[in-house]
Amino acid sequence: MIKQETVDKILDTARIEEVVGNFMELKKRGTSLIGLCPFHNEKTPSFNVSVNKGIYKCFGCGAGGDAVRFVMEHEKYSYPEALKYLAQKYHIEVVETERTPEQLAAQDKRESLFIVTNWAGKFFRETLWDTEEGRTIGLNYFKERGYREDIIQKFELGYSPEGWAALYDQAKIAGYKDEFLETTGLVIRRSADQEGAYDRFRGRVMFPIHNLTGRILGFGGRTLKTDKKTPKYVNSPESEVYHKSDVLYGLFFAKKAILDADHCYLVEGYADVLSMHQAGVENVVSSSGTSLTSGQIRLVSRYTKNVTILYDGDEAGIKASLRGTDMLLEEGLNVKVLLFPDGNDPDSYVQRFGSTAFKQYIAEHQQDFIFYKTHVLLRGAGNDPVKRAEIIHDVVESIALIPDAIKASVFVRECSTLLDIEERILIAELNKIRIGNARKSGRKPDTLPAQPTAIDPPAEAGVEDKNSGMSSDVLQEREIVRILLHYGSTAAAWEANSEIPIAPLLLSGLSDLSFDDPACLLVINVFKEYIARNELPDERVFVAHQDRRIADLAVDLLSSKYSLSPNWNDEKRKIYVPHESERLEDLVYGAIYRIKKRKVEQQMVRIREEMKTEKDETDMELMLANYQKLKDVSKIIAEKLGTIVIK
Ligand code: CTP
Ligand code: MN
Repeated sequence: MIKQETVDKILDTARIEEVVGNFMELKKRGTSLIGLCPFHNEKTPSFNVSVNKGIYKCFGCGAGGDAVRFVMEHEKYSYPEALKYLAQKYHIEVVETERTPEQLAAQDKRESLFIVTNWAGKFFRETLWDTEEGRTIGLNYFKERGYREDIIQKFELGYSPEGWAALYDQAKIAGYKDEFLETTGLVIRRSADQEGAYDRFRGRVMFPIHNLTGRILGFGGRTLKTDKKTPKYVNSPESEVYHKSDVLYGLFFAKKAILDADHCYLVEGYADVLSMHQAGVENVVSSSGTSLTSGQIRLVSRYTKNVTILYDGDEAGIKASLRGTDMLLEEGLNVKVLLFPDGNDPDSYVQRFGSTAFKQYIAEHQQDFIFYKTHVLLRGAGNDPVKRAEIIHDVVESIALIPDAIKASVFVRECSTLLDIEERILIAELNKIRIGNARKSGRKPDTLPAQPTAIDPPAEAGVEDKNSGMSSDVLQEREIVRILLHYGSTAAAWEANSEIPIAPLLLSGLSDLSFDDPACLLVINVFKEYIARNELPDERVFVAHQDRRIADLAVDLLSSKYSLSPNWNDEKRKIYVPHESERLEDLVYGAIYRIKKRKVEQQMVRIREEMKTEKDETDMELMLANYQKLKDVSKIIAEKLGTIVIK
């Protein structure tokens, strides 16, 4: 671990504009610097660097953070790697804390496993290229399948010799311990109490699986036999360095292309990844035959929100594409699907028709997932009303997973045409599902307005408002956190005790209230911890926080571009509008009362609901009394709010 003092020194010294400026061009605009975002594809700059706050924020894709985060994201470094990079840039000596023997051992073990797998990768490679068996069997196989030498080399493909211990014997000569060979699964122990082991991979062509920095984590070995008894692939087992559910095959070779294209193709197998690269389509990864995991989806979504799933065009492929996609929608990704005709997969299509035809095919046959699903289901239903009702439910279920309300309502509208059913009915169905889903997961539902509303154009063409999918509850909580971050240590000059800063004042005003949004709650708790010690956290505590949820929220709110009441600055109305920092008292009390009002009203709704089914008379009376009290409170709050300028 790097010592906190060193971390502090690095954070103090690193200048965001210099760090970012190293990797991209920045131009001055007003008090900040702007440029073309390196994290997504754009033609007009929406990437902002705030020199004062020491943070960057892209209003196009939402990326944001401090100097360390920038280096991590841009260079794909881990936290310590990014710190070390900055330390070197600013000539700061890195002091590391002593590691415990356990930490050292764990670190050493991981490193040893890496060394062994990477050595094995070299062994398989050399066997492929430099031995008689490798060349005549392995290399020939690859060539017959149509893979070019540069592709075979790029993906570091190899061959594992026949025989029981070709690798094991070499490994022993090279001095590798049995323990590491076994843990990585390269060899299998003969039996628990017997010395010796044999190779897991024998007579197979080898596909190494790389991590994000290009080191080999494990292997997939494909047999060259065609009999049904031999398993087609043998794979490395899970180990400390190889967590299958967090790995996507090909991502190391694809990450740059994915960023450039702001788009990623998801395919099923190694062969598909290779063939597509060879055809010049490099933004492609594979989940290696299993259905996608949430870890893999999160991995992709760090690079792009736009994915297209490529599947075999058979019945099973179609079904698979319907099933595996819900999770992608839930993560907020834009999902398209593409099917290949007559049992072709991407690999066989490229090999058969060539790369030009392939590129044309994928350009022309991508369909939005929701519409695709609607079409596929409708095709099988005919005019059967029961089936149609099922389809409607099924489609709306998928739409209900899309977190962004605006996107969801666009789909509702289009599907209402496709399904020939009123939009209003679809919305009602969707809200029902959302409420059900929210109840299951203990969240608040995020429903659409019952009446279809015209969708406002985004604030700026091409810039998506990231907040759009949020419920008012979350927005209110975020507003509290925003005030804390911006003005928490400003003195509440209007108070009798005018020394008191806004943070403790605001939080004591809300002490009886619970926050539901996890990220907001985390930030509030940090404030509370500091206040309990009679201190206040500064911005850096949040933007440099190791908990990504805290850092992301802080960056989002500290760089929020739009004032919460844009109409206030309405040029046409020609009224003087004070900046919010000139009306802090209203801002603070407005926020307190508004969130209280909402929470009280929600409580009242809950009680009313409960009263509907309550049979016990005493309980009923208690409820009524409670309800009356809440009503009084809400009246007081409303009065207070009335004295504050209405937003
Ligand atoms: N797979 C596996 N074990 C198997 C079969 C498949 O691990 N017994 C995984 C592999 O990662 C494979 C992917 O599932 O790449 C897709 O399977 P498939 O389409 O059968 O393999 P391809 O890679 O396309 O191989 P080929 O074209 O050589 O048959
Ligand atoms: Mn295949």
